[in-house]
Amino acid sequence: MSTSNTPPGNRREFLGTLTKLTALSTIGFSPFAGLAAPLKKQTNSLSAGPYLQAVGPTSMSIRWITAAPSYSWVEFGETAELGQKAHAVTDGLVDAYNRVQEVLVEELIPGKTYFYRIVSKEIMDFQPYKLVYGETIQSEVYTLATVNPMATELNWLVLNDIHDRPDSFNELVQLNGADPYDFVFLNGDMFDHQTDEQQIIDHLLTPCTNTFATKKPFLFVRGNHETRGKYARQLKDYFTNPGGQFFSFEGGPVFAIALDTGEDKPDNAEVYAGIVDFDQYRRRQAVWLEKQLQSKAARKAKYRVVMMHIPTFYSGDWHGTMHCRELFSPLFDKYKVDLVISGHTHKYGVHPPVEGQHNYPIIIGGGPKEGKRTLIKVKATQKELNVWMLNDDGTEVGRYIIS
Ligand SMILES: [Fe+2]
Repeated sequence: MSTSNTPPGNRREFLGTLTKLTALSTIGFSPFAGLAAPLKKQTNSLSAGPYLQAVGPTSMSIRWITAAPSYSWVEFGETAELGQKAHAVTDGLVDAYNRVQEVLVEELIPGKTYFYRIVSKEIMDFQPYKLVYGETIQSEVYTLATVNPMATELNWLVLNDIHDRPDSFNELVQLNGADPYDFVFLNGDMFDHQTDEQQIIDHLLTPCTNTFATKKPFLFVRGNHETRGKYARQLKDYFTNPGGQFFSFEGGPVFAIALDTGEDKPDNAEVYAGIVDFDQYRRRQAVWLEKQLQSKAARKAKYRVVMMHIPTFYSGDWHGTMHCRELFSPLFDKYKVDLVISGHTHKYGVHPPVEGQHNYPIIIGGGPKEGKRTLIKVKATQKELNVWMLNDDGTEVGRYIIS
């Protein structure tokens, strides 16, 4: 579950010593400290978040972005009084003088509601032997629940193909009404292409934070559009999935797998200018996928569900689709995948198994224009796996039940 660059062991250690942290706003380390350069006048503010990422039975990853370089931490506890504190440590150094914040809080109690807030203290001046702190900002107190490993059901929402339409997050998630859900899964093409950090903030992080992400985590797998643009290589710095760009996780009766299906055209297509290599990447995922499906957790799970942006069928015959079909579909059949949820085509549909083609149903969400957008709801219980697809006016436009 730990996906940041600090080994879990280190993080556990620092949790034990947190209360000893000094609260001094200026720490001088040397007699030469007074020789610092003039202080930069900045006002710190929260640029994005907090937004919850990978949440497990005993851990949670909380992210946010500050306007100014800061030292940041999370205050948390079982009541609104909080009382505990966690910060991130990498190789002995507490993460600091950074803007994109991530704190993994560990050693939590499974299936429990926690209160938390994020805190960032601006670092105004960072000299080798003198550090000057500025303003401290903090969020309000929110709640989140750790995963209950004994849960008998799992509920989640799927969004796909938002394509830089930030209002869609709220408009689609609110269609869920008051039904319980554990997390939201973003199934690719949230953007048209990657331009800069502001786009990630304005078109994904802020609408998700405002809609649900302070209390429910989201997981995000790329579509073919997230691989495009000058900021595509930085995109992953803003998100924490349980294991990387393609990943698996368990919850209730479900073993879920997220595949990163890559680009839709061949790697040597002129528009990619020689700087993509998705064939090799997909082949590597196929090897990983087979191991995942052979695992005890996958075999003993009641339902095996795959989420991937480009579906293996019903999305034309371009290279991306055909390569996904060739590599992944035989494994889905062989290891009895129960359900595949995709997007990409912008045309929603429910496609039951077809003898000789695919033994698993494929649910494809729509988008991105009004009237074509969908919210997919999945409810997995001990009795059945239920999938609904709602159009953006709330009409049920697809339904599939696996008993
Ligand atoms: Fe799309």
